[in-house]
Amino acid sequence: MLTVNTWFAAAWLSRAAWLGRWRLAVGCRAGAVLCLVCLLVSGAAGWGQAAKDTVAKSAGAAVTCATCHAGVVAHYAHAPMRHAMEMGGANPVLDKHPNLTAQVGGYSYSVQTKDGKSTYSVTNGTDTLTLPIQWMFGTHSQTWVLEQDGHLYESYVTYFARGEQLGITPGDQRITPHNLTEAMGRKLPIWETQECFKCHASGAVDGAKLTLDTLRPGLDCERCHVGAQQHMVDAEHDNFKTLPKSLKKMDAENVSNLCGSCHRTWDTVMRNHWQGPAFVRFQPYRLEHSRCFIGNDPRISCLACHDPHQGVDHNDAVYDAKCLACHGAGKVTVVALPAGSVTPKICPVSKDKCVSCHMPKVELPGGQAVFTDHFIRVVKAGEAYPD
Ligand code: HEC
Ligand code: HEC
Ligand code: HEC
Ligand code: HEC
Ligand code: HEC
Ligand code: HEC
Ligand code: HEC
Repeated sequence: MLTVNTWFAAAWLSRAAWLGRWRLAVGCRAGAVLCLVCLLVSGAAGWGQAAKDTVAKSAGAAVTCATCHAGVVAHYAHAPMRHAMEMGGANPVLDKHPNLTAQVGGYSYSVQTKDGKSTYSVTNGTDTLTLPIQWMFGTHSQTWVLEQDGHLYESYVTYFARGEQLGITPGDQRITPHNLTEAMGRKLPIWETQECFKCHASGAVDGAKLTLDTLRPGLDCERCHVGAQQHMVDAEHDNFKTLPKSLKKMDAENVSNLCGSCHRTWDTVMRNHWQGPAFVRFQPYRLEHSRCFIGNDPRISCLACHDPHQGVDHNDAVYDAKCLACHGAGKVTVVALPAGSVTPKICPVSKDKCVSCHMPKVELPGGQAVFTDHFIRVVKAGEAYPD
């Protein structure tokens, strides 16, 4: 039987499906750039001049995205997606918690950090296995990918931000370790390792090969803006014919699918029959369950509520305007409702903090992490989690 690992629930997603999807995505975008060119050449001229001036002034300095998109780059520098994976030596989470220990079953775990170097140890009282931590996944909670004898393992324990402590990696509760190596971690098949690094890092996979030597931690701009490297080279020479496709105008469904390539789509979850609160983490799937979700309406897309270049805003009130864009009093602003559907209603209970009642927080099994249920709905007291 396959082990259900919910941190890594894409385990069932076949590699072929993954690669196919990326190819498709790349293909579509390449096509779209062509249609954009005519629209943008006129508007981009002034920009090109400004960019050229900047480049001239900083002669000798390498041109980067920041040369021309300083604001976006400055924001993204602090975004969790930028740091979705880090290499040993750059780890605020472990620097802040240099001495983590836990007792799980008959094994003791210890994660020690000193002078920027972290080690992961597990002992059964007699024998001890100590490995350097090289690849760190996650900016809030954190799981480590460890190497032993040329094989990669997912650490059996994870640091959970919620209790600021170690606990069993989500999904691994079902595993009973039989020896020190199994207690250290779950051996990752090669294809699963690729998926891990593909979602959390850049440049780690070339075709069907894992290329850890070219890995860049976290998600590059290119992961969403396909073709941006070529655009950068060309823009430096005032050529704006190769702009990456603008992602601003995408409808809700296309955005869900773009973000869902990592956050998991409705399709992926349905196809794999994933059920239960462990999968509340997969926002595109949850959102698409909502009656609010209208595929061709940008007001319910991920981008209506999130700036992908920044972390989430934890202030409930900022989301009110997003809900009221459709559920507003007085004139109903929905233009994209499919024929025959209901006009969004107005709340009889409250005028603000909509998400506090309609997007409840749900604990993952084990209670070590909490996610926001993107299945927007009227939540009845005591109701079971709806799949
Ligand atoms: C020499 C200046 C320059 C550099 C360097 C540069 N860009 Fe641009 N970029 C522009 C200009 C000008 C535009 C067109 C105006 C606009 O839409 O912002 C543009 C447009 C874009 C767009 C489309 C925006 C939209 O929604 O229409 C994206 C995405 C983008 N750049 C990303 C990048 C990334 C990522 C990098 C680094 C790999 C980069 N750019 C490097 C100047 C530059
Ligand atoms: C290439 C994979 C990938 C894609 C594509 C992707 N994400 Fe993410 N995203 C991640 C990973 C991995 C994390 C977890 C980062 C962490 O905390 O370590 C994350 C985290 C987030 C967070 C949480 C930020 C926080 O404050 O904790 C938000 C919001 C988010 N993504 C939104 C989006 C949106 C919106 C899109 C589509 C425009 C998108 N993501 C596309 C991989 C991806
Ligand atoms: C299909 C893409 C995908 C794969 C494969 C994947 N992740 Fe993630 N991971 C995400 C996204 C998206 C998030 C952010 C949302 C969430 O926390 O579920 C995330 C979140 C996490 C977090 C929590 C981050 C935080 O800041 O709290 C950890 C830890 C993590 N992943 C580790 C792993 C490990 C280890 C593997 C491989 C064994 C893996 N992931 C495989 C997409 C993926
Ligand atoms: C997780 C996906 C993702 C990543 C990573 C990402 N972007 Fe974006 N970017 C988007 C989306 C989606 C939009 C459209 C935003 C909107 O409509 O609000 C966008 C918009 C933009 C724009 C045009 C809008 C604006 O605010 O000017 C620029 C320029 C841009 N991105 C540059 C970058 C650069 C530079 C990086 C890397 C430092 C980067 N992006 C990383 C998804 C991403
Ligand atoms: C109508 C507004 C809205 C839309 C649309 C929306 N989100 Fe969220 N999202 C929220 C709120 C509210 C939170 C919780 C903020 C907080 O209090 O931390 C959140 C939190 C998140 C988080 C952090 C982890 C969690 O679940 O708490 C991620 C990742 C995320 N959203 C991704 C997405 C993605 C991907 C999409 C598109 C499929 C999306 N969101 C669409 C409102 C929205
Ligand atoms: C794109 C427009 C749109 C947006 C944005 C939107 N909704 Fe909706 N919502 C609808 C439509 C359409 C329905 C179905 C008709 C109805 O019941 O009003 C609906 C239904 C609902 C329902 C009733 C669901 C049920 O199961 O009966 C609630 C509650 C709700 N929305 C709350 C919200 C909240 C809270 C937000 C912001 C987080 C939000 N909506 C954002 C369009 C939207
Ligand atoms: C204190 C919790 C709470 C807050 C905050 C809240 N609601 Fe509600 N909402 C409810 C409850 C409870 C119901 C069900 C009322 C009923 O069926 O009698 C409801 C019903 C709804 C409905 C369905 C109405 C219908 O006639 O079917 C919509 C749409 C809705 N809310 C949207 C919103 C929006 C938009 C906001 C923010 C402006 C909001 N809610 C804020 C608790 C809340």
